[in-house]
Amino acid sequence: MNNENSVKIIGTGSYLPPKIVTNFDLEKIMHTTDEWIRSRTGIESRRVADEKTATSDLATIAARKALEDANLMAEDLDLIIVATVTPDMMFPSTACLVQKNLEAGKAVAFDIEAACSGFLYALTIGEQFIKGGVYKNALIIGAETLSKILDPEDRNTSVLFGDGAGAIVIQKTTDNTGILSSYLGTDGSKGEVLKQPAGGSRIPSTYESVKDKLHYVKMEGNEVFRFAVRIMGKAAMEALKLSNIKIQDIDFLIPHQANIRIIEAAAKRLELPMDKVYVNLDKYGNMSAASVPVALDEASKKGLLKKNDIVVLVAFGGGLTWASTVVRWSK
Ligand code: UT7
Repeated sequence: MNNENSVKIIGTGSYLPPKIVTNFDLEKIMHTTDEWIRSRTGIESRRVADEKTATSDLATIAARKALEDANLMAEDLDLIIVATVTPDMMFPSTACLVQKNLEAGKAVAFDIEAACSGFLYALTIGEQFIKGGVYKNALIIGAETLSKILDPEDRNTSVLFGDGAGAIVIQKTTDNTGILSSYLGTDGSKGEVLKQPAGGSRIPSTYESVKDKLHYVKMEGNEVFRFAVRIMGKAAMEALKLSNIKIQDIDFLIPHQANIRIIEAAAKRLELPMDKVYVNLDKYGNMSAASVPVALDEASKKGLLKKNDIVVLVAFGGGLTWASTVVRWSK
């Protein structure tokens, strides 16, 4: 049966800055060990952008690759959404900067912020615009330079995160592939456990706010861990329920890459063997909004995703937020 009102992913792309920082490099500058980081998180190294590189630079390269993969020109784009917690600046939005870089003059561009769930929030927004007939082609990007807002002396956060960008192009489809369902959730009452306190209107950037390191990420890791273990599996199950897809029908799970123990807990809840779960956090760490699209692009380029495969994307993050999207793979 043809589904005339569905949205499919027609191209993916990603970009990681070339500089690799290993756990052994971190051992030399803070009180940590490779053994601790690997056993508690699964992370072995991460990519770090250089001083001159901002989030829009990574996003633009990932976007160009996704456009090429989709066989589209920048002029064909109607919409650009960037999900990020590390915009180049408070405004203009990173999406506006990407629009300029790509010379995608026709596209409406804006950012959304839902921390590590941001890419799936952005995808769901883009999907609605296309389903509603407002736009035809949309570029959805998750891009971060977390290294710019980490306290290099805080071992609780600085060993976990990395920089990178992933992008996809989505378009209306008349076949029965594409996005089958999306499920989003928010619990603002728990937002305190993961935040960047200063730099906004509550605590504007001042000499004092910087001296007190309030412009850096603050995290209650244990709280986030407990939430994540509970919510990843639940979010995926809720999205599956909305599309009437059974757990047994999942071909691939592409989870947010925060901690291997969190990913394993989600896989266990979904009764999925780990060979159906894409993991790249060993190489890149947690790239917040970029984690899911980078993993999706890698899984696609490695030929792991076959046409009609059921692919479940799932994420959780600051806010607190969570999200899952079920896709019948189109390519
Ligand atoms: O995308 C969402 C973003 N955030 C997350 O997903 C984070 C979720 N949370 C986690 O992944 C884990 O909670 C962490 C990896 C952050 C921490 O792992 P944990 O197993 O929960 O460790 P812990 O915080 O309970 O700390 C255990 C010990 C503590 O020492 P004591 O008090 O037992 O002596 C910490 O001080 O490990 C110590 N520790 C470290 N040791 C070496 C904390 N960080 C480090 C470190 N290196 N980097």
